[in-house]
Amino acid sequence: MCACAVVLGLQWGDEGKGKVVDLVAQHADAVVRFQGGHNAGHTLVVKNEKFILHLIPSGILHDGVQCFLGQGVVISPDALRGEIMELESRLGPIRDRISIHPACSIILPSHIELDLAREHAKGATKIGTTGKGIGPTYEDKYARRGIRIGDLFDWEQCTSKVRDLVAYHNFLLESYYSTKTVDIHGVEDQLQQFRQFVEPMVRDTTQALRDLRDSGKSIVLEGAQGALLDIDLGSFPYVTSSHTSIGGAITGSGLPPQSIDQVLGIAKAYTTRVGNGPFPTEQSNEIGKLMHSRGAEKGATTGRDRRCGWLDLVALKSAVKVNGVTELCLTKLDVLDGFESVMVCTEYKQDGDGSSSGYSSKTDLSRVSACYTKLSGWYESTHNLTEFAALPKNAKKYLEFIENCIGVPIKMVSTGPSRAATITDRV
Ligand code: GDP
Ligand code: IMO
Ligand code: MG
Repeated sequence: MCACAVVLGLQWGDEGKGKVVDLVAQHADAVVRFQGGHNAGHTLVVKNEKFILHLIPSGILHDGVQCFLGQGVVISPDALRGEIMELESRLGPIRDRISIHPACSIILPSHIELDLAREHAKGATKIGTTGKGIGPTYEDKYARRGIRIGDLFDWEQCTSKVRDLVAYHNFLLESYYSTKTVDIHGVEDQLQQFRQFVEPMVRDTTQALRDLRDSGKSIVLEGAQGALLDIDLGSFPYVTSSHTSIGGAITGSGLPPQSIDQVLGIAKAYTTRVGNGPFPTEQSNEIGKLMHSRGAEKGATTGRDRRCGWLDLVALKSAVKVNGVTELCLTKLDVLDGFESVMVCTEYKQDGDGSSSGYSSKTDLSRVSACYTKLSGWYESTHNLTEFAALPKNAKKYLEFIENCIGVPIKMVSTGPSRAATITDRV
């Protein structure tokens, strides 16, 4: 375990980041969320017990691990409180291990209404957001009018800012979207109660993380969503509103770039996407259905069905390069057991002129077709395997093919949902 590791999803989210962070956090002192909000759903399975985390970092199951929410995170008061209460009912007290930066933006009920109203107005072209108010909250942050956790502690100024902001939201909701408005007094009451709840957890997480780093402690930065959902580098406009990539880990935690020793990229052995937007390797057929049922591909936050398709090495290679990924963890290999052959997308053909292209943030994924390389599948079960040597020959070949194509080693392979179902002995 390196002193400071960043764990990033390299696809459209749900790669298994939560499982991997929980595993590597066993040897860490701190785990940090640095972007996104409760749009994330990170699943941890330990000894048949399942936890789905949305805002709380995936190190929380380890008693000695400090959990940080850096300034890049957006926080829904109800979601944070609900998640902490639920976890405490199962784990006992955890609040003394949670630290929240005062610059985190607050998701207001009117942000959620705006998110829903915008999606509704878009109709068929909607993004398919999680409906958690993420986009509108980041909009207000970048417009420099958003409410931050630290604002709660100057109540007079805070109420004035909140009134102005909710009045503006209500104007949009009523006059532009012709939908219901939000009761300003209800918002104030909610924030006042939240202020008391959150106060003991608010501290300068940037300084605390630097101090940990300087004293040689080990830190894991936990990404949410994935590279293709990045606001700048992803499949715009079908993306989330935060920097899911390596840059977000720096600005959202406050740690300097030199402090990062390892960038562990997480990718599924195939690809999934939840929400709308182009997906070149999507299999809207029996293959996709099989991946869906075998991989239990339902969203951990919204319960929506995830779309499924073959591994897209063109997009994966780009995500590895742009994020400076040093090593890869391939998850859900077991879902591919039993396929006679396994396809991997190794090239995009540009629709219209047929020229080949790679993926970059300027690629319009709706205008490319996937070209595949066919590899032999395996019939043996890889489910819950923990030793590299025990993998079927063709599964090993699959891993080697991926490594050769993307140019970084696969150091970890996940073979089942539980913490234990992981291969880490590959040298
Ligand atoms: P995250 O958002 O990246 O943390 O991923 P999610 O938790 O949303 O989705 C991953 C899903 O796959 C969860 O239900 C995990 O329990 C499950 N999972 C993770 N790794 C594996 C694996 O290697 N094999 C199988 N079959 N399931 C896995
Ligand atoms: P984790 O961390 C998969 C997707 C939504 C939608 C788009 C924008 O569990 O991998 P938003 O509500 O963020 O404005 O929605 O992003 N999305 C995710 N997809 N996993 C996630 O998180 C996601 N978070 C957002 O489905 O397409
Ligand atoms: Mg998820």
